[in-house]
Amino acid sequence: MLGKEFCWGVSTAAYQVEGGVNEDGRGLSVWDVFAARPGAVKNGDTGATTCDHYRRFPEDIGLMRGLGLGGYRFSVAWPRVQPSGSGPVNAAGLGFYDRLVDGLLEAGIVPLPTLFHWDLPQVLEEAGGWMARETAFRFADYAGVVADCLGDRVPAWVTLNEPFIHMVFGYALGVHAPGRTLMLDAMPTAHHQLLGHGLAAQVLQEHGGQVMIANNLTPVRAASDSDADAAAASAYDALHNRMFLDPLLCGRYPDLTAFGVPPGLGGSVRDGDLEVIAGAPLDGLGVNYYNPTRIAAPTAPGLPFAEAAIEGVPHTAFGWPVVPDGLRELLVALKRDYGHALPPVTVTENGCSTVDVPGEDGAVDDAFRIRYLADHIDALAAAVAEGVDVRGYYTWSLLDNFEWAEGFSQRFGLVHVDFETLRRTPKASYLWYRDLIAAHRARHGR
Ligand code: BGC
Repeated sequence: MLGKEFCWGVSTAAYQVEGGVNEDGRGLSVWDVFAARPGAVKNGDTGATTCDHYRRFPEDIGLMRGLGLGGYRFSVAWPRVQPSGSGPVNAAGLGFYDRLVDGLLEAGIVPLPTLFHWDLPQVLEEAGGWMARETAFRFADYAGVVADCLGDRVPAWVTLNEPFIHMVFGYALGVHAPGRTLMLDAMPTAHHQLLGHGLAAQVLQEHGGQVMIANNLTPVRAASDSDADAAAASAYDALHNRMFLDPLLCGRYPDLTAFGVPPGLGGSVRDGDLEVIAGAPLDGLGVNYYNPTRIAAPTAPGLPFAEAAIEGVPHTAFGWPVVPDGLRELLVALKRDYGHALPPVTVTENGCSTVDVPGEDGAVDDAFRIRYLADHIDALAAAVAEGVDVRGYYTWSLLDNFEWAEGFSQRFGLVHVDFETLRRTPKASYLWYRDLIAAHRARHGR
């Protein structure tokens, strides 16, 4: 059973919900530039307005209060705080987060800010983005600026969101901002993000905050029991999971020679870096879980793995396989593999996109999402029963929002958003989550 202090939350990210891209002196982010490129985002959608959370946040806090939430994970837009990525601080932009944090606390909701959810200031991208080592140091400076302002009210921070996805989609394949197609040459972005995490973690801990990072993790299954498939699965696991956990929890990178990457990630790792990355120990590990991955040996030269379909299970509107037990498997494996080095875990994202069509009364009966969430929460509870220390669950997402390269075509929210009128309508899953939280509180007399 989940304990009394277990935190129920929801997650969002700045560029996906805020809009207001020209308000109060915000600088350009890589996503503004990328989304303006013809063909980069489905239907030419952009985050210029999206849910208008920047102005409608009091209404959104009302929705959160209605859920009875314990926590709200949102991200801080670096270009609002430092429009050029370094130097002068934009007090008006920072003021937004100040009001947001106060509003949350007033509603009894603990703020959990993420400092980087992919919206790098464009000026820094022009200086090399995460390919440049300097960006790690700029990130730590920015973390200090935010902590100076909010640190008196924010108990815990998430430094980075999903450095793996950012490296692969943003820098290797170019399907996300900044749209670079470096393939395996993108590896230094992993190291520079992790170095930025380590440097920022020191600063945040000096401010008395707890530090987490949110990694996208996936249990990797070999497509067969052949040696070739097992080797491919192990290579993929090293790239997706261990490259972003081993340095943090064990102070070393996994073996990436299957990718032709020499030790030291192509020269980007300098003496002392791993001590910085592992040196400010994580107070918590954020796990973003969506689905497992099935991997086979490659059939063509290039990468040392090939992704294989997972069949015989439902799929979300995005086409992602629904395997709730993968969450239990993942959490139990983390404990098995990292032992005492594993800090308490929080599921910082989990959710699904569905085709939600409001009925005539505006109601959305998203039974698929309810089943998805219920089964994943059961899987989480099963992992807790097996001894994994899991402190919270944040569903992705509060609102339908700008789903990156998919624009507004994939809806992940508990609350339906009409992107013409910006009207919010709680879906059936919202009411279900509200009741689940209330029942948990009642069981624990809270
Ligand atoms: C990201 C979110 C995204 C969600 C669904 C995660 O990888 O952190 O920003 O919307 O997945 O794709």
